[in-house]
Amino acid sequence: MADLEEFVRSMPKCELHLHIEGTLEPELKFRLAARNGVELPYRTVEEARAAYDFHDLTSFLVGYYQGMSVLVTEPDFYELAYAYFERAAAEGVKHAEIFFDPQGHTSRGVEFATVIKGLRRAQLDARRVLGLHSQLIMCFLRDFQAEYAMATLLESLPYKDWITGVGLDSDERGNPPEKFAAVFARARAEGYLLTMHCDVDQENSVEHIRQCLEDIGVDRIDHGVNILENPALVEEVRRRGLGVTVCPVSNRFVTDGTKSAELKRLLDAGVRVTVNSDDPAYFTAYVTENLLTVQRELDLDPKQLVALQRNAIEASWAPPAVRQAFLDELATLG
Ligand code: ADE
Ligand code: ZN
Repeated sequence: MADLEEFVRSMPKCELHLHIEGTLEPELKFRLAARNGVELPYRTVEEARAAYDFHDLTSFLVGYYQGMSVLVTEPDFYELAYAYFERAAAEGVKHAEIFFDPQGHTSRGVEFATVIKGLRRAQLDARRVLGLHSQLIMCFLRDFQAEYAMATLLESLPYKDWITGVGLDSDERGNPPEKFAAVFARARAEGYLLTMHCDVDQENSVEHIRQCLEDIGVDRIDHGVNILENPALVEEVRRRGLGVTVCPVSNRFVTDGTKSAELKRLLDAGVRVTVNSDDPAYFTAYVTENLLTVQRELDLDPKQLVALQRNAIEASWAPPAVRQAFLDELATLG
């Protein structure tokens, strides 16, 4: 058991579902709040952590957006991202695909350029100093109007070379994928890859997954474990080789458990299912802790743990050289 834990800690890792704003630890939140003159609704780091007792997606999102208010300048975004990269590199992450929510910032008066320039600078430093490769995925907030998403897409175009794909997140209730069909069609035409959140146990989860696959034509699905309720859709994601990014500890916070059993069913069905951390500062578990959680719950052996990482890099949007280097490193583990 101790050996298996060491195996998980030391193996190379690929993270595909990580909201950079969800890596804002309370300590950095307080430091940035002081620097920018932003008032927080708690007085200490301990009080902030104690407030993270989310019980569903909506209650989590309230705290998540409130936390963003401390991010104002380009160095703020740099520090946020670089702090994540340092931590991820220490956990063995070699490749990370990072969501960011520009509308969480432009809706407060922070410019798109401020956000992306800070993130980009941190990515370049992380690659150079830490050897960690990363890519950006720009998410649209689905509880805002589709027109605002389209405007954000257009605003991103001068930075197209810095962004690999687009995603859809925030409150899913009443905000189906089809609401954004035109935005995603345009994103595809601009050369972006496509993913979308299909959060766990939402109203119409399965219908949203169907829309992603049949109407939008996504390249990946985030969360998405409710797909098991429709075997034909499971067969379709398997046939297309699409990644399904599961976030076990996050699931425990926003629904009724980690959904490890569902993860195992997807793994056994031959789906490219992966283990990820979502919003680790809020759910207090980075990728290693998520992997350890499923290892314990499912009693996974090293072969199955390696299979999860192979799934992740194969489902990733990494360039061939990064992908091959990762696979070569995995191959040394057997
Ligand atoms: N924004 C940040 N994390 C999210 C999640 N897990 N689901 C939907 N929106 C999010
Ligand atoms: Zn997410």
